[in-house]
Amino acid sequence: MSTSSSLAARSGQFLIGGDLQVNRLGFGAMRVTGPGIWGDPSDRDEALRTLKRLPELGIDFIDTADAYGPDVSEPLIREALHPYGNVVVATKGGLTRTGPDVWIPVGRPEYLIQQAYKSLRHLGVERIDLWQLHRIDSKVPRAEQFDAIKLLLDKGIIRHAGLSEVSVEDIEAAAKVFPVATVQNRYNLVDRTSEDVLDHCAAHGIGFIPWFPLAAGELAKPGSLLDSIAKAHDAAPGQVALAWVLKRSPVMLPIPGTGKVAHLEQNMAAVDIALSDEEFAALDKEGRAEFARKAAEAGAAKE
Ligand SMILES: NC(=O)c1ccc[n+]([C@@H]2O[C@H](COP(=O)([O-])OP(=O)(O)OC[C@H]3O[C@@H](n4cnc5c(N)ncnc54)[C@H](OP(=O)(O)O)[C@@H]3O)[C@@H](O)[C@H]2O)c1
Repeated sequence: MSTSSSLAARSGQFLIGGDLQVNRLGFGAMRVTGPGIWGDPSDRDEALRTLKRLPELGIDFIDTADAYGPDVSEPLIREALHPYGNVVVATKGGLTRTGPDVWIPVGRPEYLIQQAYKSLRHLGVERIDLWQLHRIDSKVPRAEQFDAIKLLLDKGIIRHAGLSEVSVEDIEAAAKVFPVATVQNRYNLVDRTSEDVLDHCAAHGIGFIPWFPLAAGELAKPGSLLDSIAKAHDAAPGQVALAWVLKRSPVMLPIPGTGKVAHLEQNMAAVDIALSDEEFAALDKEGRAEFARKAAEAGAAKE
C-alpha cells in the first residue's frame, strides 16, 4: 500500500532539461494570493497549510512567478518550505502588475535579469532550478529576450529555462539561443489551441506545463459523458479532466492550483484514476468537438 508521500509519484516522472527529475503532477502557486492574483491571500494560514502539505503528498514540482501578488507567492513558498529539500520551485518573470487582474509584459533584458535576481532573493536560493519567460513582450525584439535568458543560464543564476504562451515557431527560434526545457501554455480537455505545441514538445523532450488544467467547460454538466465517466470512477469531473490531461502525453506536467488543502488533496487523488483507452478516446473526441464549437461561436461573434 502506498503512503501519501508517494502519491504524486504515481503520476510518473519527467526529467526537466534531461537531468532534473520531478513527479509529473505538480502544483501551481498562483492561487495563494488575493483576489485578482493581487496582494495577500484572504486566508493566509490556509494558504500556508496548503503549501506545507505539498511535500507530504510527494509533490516536488511547484510553479510560481514574481508577478503572483506581485511578490506574494514566492515569499510565501519560502516561508512554508525553505530550504525545500528535493522540491523544485520553478518561477517566471516578464509580466508586470499595475492592479488586480492586470498583466502587462515587459521584456527589456535588464528588467528580466533584475527580476530573476529578485526571485533568487524571494525564494532564498542561490540558483533557480527552472525560470520561465512569462510572456514574450511584443514591444521588445524577441531575440533580446532570448539573449537575456542565455545570460541568466551562462551566469548560473538559473539552471534551466522555459517559455510561456508561445508558438512552435517561437520555441524553434528560442532553441537556437538556449536549450528550451519547458513550455507553459494554456491547455485542458476543452482548450486544444496548443495541440501542435504539445506535439512539438513531446517530439523534442520538452516538458509541457498545461495551465488551467482542471477546466472541462460544458463537458462537466450533469448527464454528460464526463459526468458519467466521473461517476463510474467515483470521482469529480475536475479530477477526471486532470486524469485525462495526465494520460495525454508523458511530457505533460500539470500544475493545478488552489489555496485550499481540501482542494489540493482532491486534485492529487486524480493520479489514481486509471482511464481506459476507450474512456480517454471518447473524452478526447468530445473535448475536441467542444473546442471546435466554441471556436466557431467566437468566429461568428466577430463577423
Ligand atoms: N503561464 C501562464 O501564463 C499562467 C497563467 C495562469 C496560471 N498559470 C499557472 O498555472 C496554475 C494553474 O492554473 P489556474 O490556477 O488558472 O487553473 P486551475 O488549477 O485549473 O484551476 C484553479 C481554480 O480552480 C479552483 N480549484 C482548484 N482545485 C479545486 C477543486 N478540487 N475543487 C473546486 N475548485 C478547485 C481554484 O480555486 P480554490 O483556490 O478556491 O481552490 C481556482 O479558482 C497556476 O497556479 C499558475 O501556477 C500560468
